[in-house]
Amino acid sequence: MNVAVVGLGKLGAPLAAILARKGNRVLGIDVSPSVVELVNGGRAPVEEPGLQELMSVARDRFSATTELTAAADADATILIVPTPSDERGAFTNTHIVAVLEEVGRGLSGRDDYHVVVVASTVMPGSCDGAIRQTLERASGRRVGETLGLCYSPEFIALGSVIRNMLEPDMVLIGESDPRAGEVLERLYGDVCENDPPLRRMSLVNAELTKIAVNTYITMKISYANALADVCERLPGGDVDVVTDALGLDTRIGRKYLRGAIAYGGPCFPRDNKAFAVLARDLGAEPLLAEATDSINVAQIERLARIVRSRLAAGDVVGILGLSYKPDTNVIEESPGVALARALVEDGEYEIVVYDPVATGSAVDALGGAVQGVASAHELLERSDLVVIATPWPEFAELPRDALERDGQRLVVIDCWRVLSPVTYSETIDIVRLGRRLEQSSLI
Ligand SMILES: NC(=O)c1ccc[n+]([C@@H]2O[C@H](COP(=O)([O-])OP(=O)(O)OC[C@H]3O[C@@H](n4cnc5c(N)ncnc54)[C@H](O)[C@@H]3O)[C@@H](O)[C@H]2O)c1
Repeated sequence: MNVAVVGLGKLGAPLAAILARKGNRVLGIDVSPSVVELVNGGRAPVEEPGLQELMSVARDRFSATTELTAAADADATILIVPTPSDERGAFTNTHIVAVLEEVGRGLSGRDDYHVVVVASTVMPGSCDGAIRQTLERASGRRVGETLGLCYSPEFIALGSVIRNMLEPDMVLIGESDPRAGEVLERLYGDVCENDPPLRRMSLVNAELTKIAVNTYITMKISYANALADVCERLPGGDVDVVTDALGLDTRIGRKYLRGAIAYGGPCFPRDNKAFAVLARDLGAEPLLAEATDSINVAQIERLARIVRSRLAAGDVVGILGLSYKPDTNVIEESPGVALARALVEDGEYEIVVYDPVATGSAVDALGGAVQGVASAHELLERSDLVVIATPWPEFAELPRDALERDGQRLVVIDCWRVLSPVTYSETIDIVRLGRRLEQSSLI
């Protein structure tokens, strides 16, 4: 099939490369000339494990342009452009509408079949509202005749985007009409390597399903974090012991049930807030999504309180891990960065930070108020207290020669319990979150 993919970012570039790898002819379209130049040079425009290899293999079937009307020559156009949140937390369609003005113009006056697929996260009702209206007006064609409209979001985690796209838990297709859904089902059928269950439905139900999935997951994370907070105050409490058993109940399941610190990234916080806005606007009860968000925001203060309880004015705090999760350089809503910001505001400590891939961007985001260092070793040597905020695998193996102290022992706050107490307890004081803490840490 000939496919145009508009928006070659963290999701669009991997999807376009996969479609090309699977034998489709792909035209990538992006407003950024530098992104287009990279793709046409066979280079990955974003950091994502496995993407460069895919692009090299599929190079002769994947080209790019900034010209949006060129999408009309494809059989399908997939839109994965940003949908920034407004001040209330609702997703905005400005970029999608701008793209459709041009794509629609390209489609006008033609009568060959074309399906437009929205993969960006949107507010439920968008596809049957502004998106359909813009497409029909700009193209002068009616959706449902020779023009199809689908909504099909990706369920991925950054760092494993390619595996998640090749082996999804499900394929979700919202469709304007059966013909549109069939075209997309065929396209994704050739992409997926695990024969996933497929659900085809109306556009609005697919839009709602997308944000409902993430809102459910965030609710589970906040639940586990609330449990961790209880365990830290309960004599004998240990969240890992509790969640390990809890997750065995098939009604609950084990995934995303790790009591630790706040969730972050470009999707979870925003999708959850958007669900609350949607519920409120419809006059439905937004309490569950709002509570999930409030609990998440409170996690930064919970962690900062535990850190402060172990510090004296003038101490040096080291933060290991600034990306919002391992295997990505994205720092949006990262708990490590949020903790650094809270401690900077205290104005009492010196803060040094290190991340395998995100030190520079985190220091910039914090306005230079913290000092970035070149290695975990250097950070450990310089710090009086260290927080492991992102569970990068390398933080489970701390260099022993940087841990020894002459006077007071180094304190390491292990948010994700990555350190083996057997290996390290002789040398350092490990504070494992989610377990009964000293009273001073709880005030
Ligand atoms: N990143 C994630 O983990 C993730 C997960 C699920 C859903 N989403 C959703 O997918 C969408 C895209 O997210 P992303 O993370 O890939 O974004 P991104 O910012 O990484 O990439 C967006 C790309 O679109 C391009 N672009 C912007 N405006 C454009 C326009 N008018 N015309 C053509 N190109 C344009 C940008 O130059 C950029 O290359 C968003 O709606 C997001 O909410 C993201």
